[in-house]
Amino acid sequence: MTINWAQCHTRPVLMIPGPTELPYPVIQALNQPPAIQYDRTFDEEVLEPTTLALREVFQTRGEVILLPGSGRTALEAGALSVIEPGDRVLVIGAGQFGILMREIMNRVGADATEFPVEWGARLDLDRLQKAAERLRPKAITLVHNETSTGTTYPAAEVGQIARAVGALFLLDTVSSVAGLDVRTDEWGVDLNMTGSQKCLAAPLGLALVAVSPRAWEAMERRARKAQSYVYDLLRWKEWWMPVSRGGKVPDGAPRRQPVSIPTHLTAAMRVAVRLILEEGLPHRFRRHEVAAGALRRGVAAMGLDMFPDTSLLSNTVSCIRTPRGIEPAAVVALMRERYGILIGTGLDRIRTTTLRIGTMGITASPLYVLPTLGALELALRDLGAKCEPGAGVAAAQAAFADAS
Ligand SMILES: Cc1ncc(COP(=O)(O)O)c(C=O)c1O
Repeated sequence: MTINWAQCHTRPVLMIPGPTELPYPVIQALNQPPAIQYDRTFDEEVLEPTTLALREVFQTRGEVILLPGSGRTALEAGALSVIEPGDRVLVIGAGQFGILMREIMNRVGADATEFPVEWGARLDLDRLQKAAERLRPKAITLVHNETSTGTTYPAAEVGQIARAVGALFLLDTVSSVAGLDVRTDEWGVDLNMTGSQKCLAAPLGLALVAVSPRAWEAMERRARKAQSYVYDLLRWKEWWMPVSRGGKVPDGAPRRQPVSIPTHLTAAMRVAVRLILEEGLPHRFRRHEVAAGALRRGVAAMGLDMFPDTSLLSNTVSCIRTPRGIEPAAVVALMRERYGILIGTGLDRIRTTTLRIGTMGITASPLYVLPTLGALELALRDLGAKCEPGAGVAAAQAAFADAS
């Protein structure tokens, strides 16, 4: 009889690159009766402390806006708020989420030019600089951590190029913020856009955008109002932000939410942010670095190669080539159905050749990485691949031991 080890579990462990596992106190924060989103106590006791604490996570002195939605909501809200139809935008496209940004820019009517980067390959900064000087765009966009290829791009350098040509710098940090060091102000990021369900380790359902003073100015200088009522970030300034923070609402006066904010999700985010700050950002980033490094050591010991250029390897998403003759979808199905651990296949053009594993939030730890490697070894063996039992786990364990 083949034993189905997953049968006794009610859900797979999420080792996909988001949504990710939630810390128990975050799950508990969801278990509350409904609150009234426009009630002053929700504003003062939950929403305000959460957005102020998020500034530390984003490493910004500017405003962090919470919206109902996901990463894509943040990207679209940011884009439609600063870009007017016909504005030139240089979109760095190094994977599936670069393509997403191009699509969003096209939808908001931008005159978008793609700066294509081969999937998994380095970004040529000199060529980018020349392209930016030629185009003189209103904005340059970058996906900091390309979740589709498991790569991290040099956001600080791209920020410098944007600044040198007077462009706004729009950064997708959906799979990096709170897992990788993201320095919003230091890097000159004008819109830092992310979602709640990845390294922040909060439930899916909130979009987050950190807005720089330059981005507010761009919104205020628009010839015409943004087409969207709900997602026009400028309304946050007018309805929500106090005068002392550069907004339009007299300090102490009641404020209005430009869109009703989900109270449960905000309560969970509040706890998620508290946990992040209690851990401390340097510790958190180091934890992701060590956990991803251990995962990679394990994968290498199993004889598998990483997909991207080795100088770009992400510490939150690992993109791994499957052995010849083994279908990634079959590995994913077997790991989920038989061993109770969910990982992902690659996306789009690398869907049939790669696997993706997240190390995000609490899953960046031996508690999650070692069983994942163990299940991967078992699944590959079940599918007929040659791998020494325990080699991957042993190598990862050694990496964890070396780091402690
Ligand atoms: C880098 C990146 N950008 C954007 C998105 C889209 O975010 P969401 O699925 O939260 O809308 C994702 C989702 O995986 C992502 O990884």
